[in-house]
Amino acid sequence: MKLQPSLVPACAVALAALLASARSVWQARAPWPLKPPAALSDGRPEKLARASELSCAPCHAAQVEEWAATTHALAWENEPYQEELVGRKKAESCHGCHAPVALHGALDALLAGKPQARADARHFGVSCESCHLATDGALLGPTGAATDEHATRKGTSFDAQGSNALCASCHRTTVGPVIGLARDFEQSAGAAAGATCVGCHMAPRAEVPVEGVGVEGRTRTVRSHSLQTPRDPAFLALGFELTLAHEPAGPTLRVRNLAGHRVPGLIGREIEFVATASDAALEELGRETLTLTTESYLRVDETLELALPARTARVRVLGRHHDPRMDKPVTFLERELGP
Ligand code: HEC
Ligand code: HEC
Ligand code: HEC
Ligand code: HEC
Ligand code: HEC
Repeated sequence: MKLQPSLVPACAVALAALLASARSVWQARAPWPLKPPAALSDGRPEKLARASELSCAPCHAAQVEEWAATTHALAWENEPYQEELVGRKKAESCHGCHAPVALHGALDALLAGKPQARADARHFGVSCESCHLATDGALLGPTGAATDEHATRKGTSFDAQGSNALCASCHRTTVGPVIGLARDFEQSAGAAAGATCVGCHMAPRAEVPVEGVGVEGRTRTVRSHSLQTPRDPAFLALGFELTLAHEPAGPTLRVRNLAGHRVPGLIGREIEFVATASDAALEELGRETLTLTTESYLRVDETLELALPARTARVRVLGRHHDPRMDKPVTFLERELGP
């Protein structure tokens, strides 16, 4: 097996060409063809049982239902988290991201510094109020739609670009098993071309009319609070572009990272591509494997190459995902490449 990162472009022209092509791939795929995520099969609780106790539940049932089945809702109750806390000194320093206070101060500015742990209702994990509540009691959202039920305000953390900073408040730090993915994202071609965490991780749920004068006929996208996760095979498959290239040195399988950050994005996970090569007469020539782990990961925007046997005309690629949080490895991709 030969595994080599694609050559680092030596001059600015090549770099510009690479960025432009990354941008065009990105634009061709934006918005991401997201669907509601498949149910998880990892034996954990499917959703936070106590979600219906949220004060928001009677009025925002759709958001509560979607959120309740995410690891944001389960960030406190999750077994992996509770197990890590056993016998740990200074566990309080962990709680700031797993059961945080409201992250916005007055008006709509994000609080500076590390998120702080909240004193009560920790079982709601990364709660509605963590993301939406401002210190003056107003609920911040994408439009700030007025209502008699509570004060609302339009917040920059909920418009297309501002939302990245909200996500980064917890996803920028490398701590315990966590990789600060937002740092990768900030340097990515996708970010430069307008990609967002929300655009890839919260699927569109509905198009609704924009309210106001002078915007008649315009619509905006309401997004689902269900998070798209790599444990959903269809979502994970969106993260890679596979091509069979005929290089002077011989046939090559190229695996390009289309995610907004490195893959895999959490310690302990493994992603494996098994390529079975055959010649023009469909005679099998051999098998090559490319494995992505915490140590040998696919960097943001990177393309890795896998050399194939000389007479390769077709290749069948199987993608397998090993996540210690799941009972067994999952096949997330099956593809035939050839003439
Ligand atoms: C800066 C915010 C932050 C702090 C502080 C933090 N975490 Fe996390 N934690 C996260 C994020 C974000 C994830 C999700 C990572 C992912 O899924 O890629 C996570 C995930 C985890 C997971 C994985 C849970 C699972 O579903 O498998 C464990 C376990 C965990 N954290 C333990 C800890 C421990 C122990 C501490 C304290 C030493 C800690 N965390 C402190 C943000 C944080
Ligand atoms: C991790 C942060 C986060 C959490 C937790 C969260 N939200 Fe949101 N919410 C967002 C973001 C980001 C948007 C805007 C998404 C978009 O349309 O771009 C949003 C949008 C909304 C909207 C506006 C929907 C619309 O018209 O577009 C409502 C209402 C809402 N959230 C309620 C809730 C409730 C209720 C909960 C708890 C069950 C919750 N949110 C939990 C981040 C969060
Ligand atoms: C008694 C009903 C009621 C309760 C309880 C309630 N809301 Fe609302 N909320 C509304 C209505 C009505 C609107 C305006 C229309 C809409 O966006 O649904 C609204 C608007 C919002 C918005 C603004 C969305 C935008 O347009 O930007 C957010 C964010 C929000 N609510 C979050 C919450 C959260 C979080 C809770 C719980 C802490 C909560 N609400 C509790 C009824 C309620
Ligand atoms: C208050 C801290 C916090 C904020 C803000 C936050 N997250 Fe998270 N996120 C977490 C934690 C903690 C976990 C992991 C919980 C666990 O596994 O126990 C997580 C997990 C995730 C996961 C992995 C889901 C899975 O099941 O594998 C994704 C994707 C994610 N967050 C996206 C986002 C996006 C997008 C935003 C911005 C809209 C955001 N997060 C904002 C703390 C946060
Ligand atoms: C261009 C689309 C795209 C963008 C932008 C993007 N992601 Fe991802 N994300 C993915 C894909 C695809 C995966 C699955 C690949 C993997 O398993 O690492 C993923 C996986 C994740 C995971 C799960 C890691 C794990 O194993 O639990 C987290 C957490 C996450 N992203 C957070 C973020 C945050 C935070 C941002 C913004 C700073 C962001 N993502 C931006 C596409 C994207």
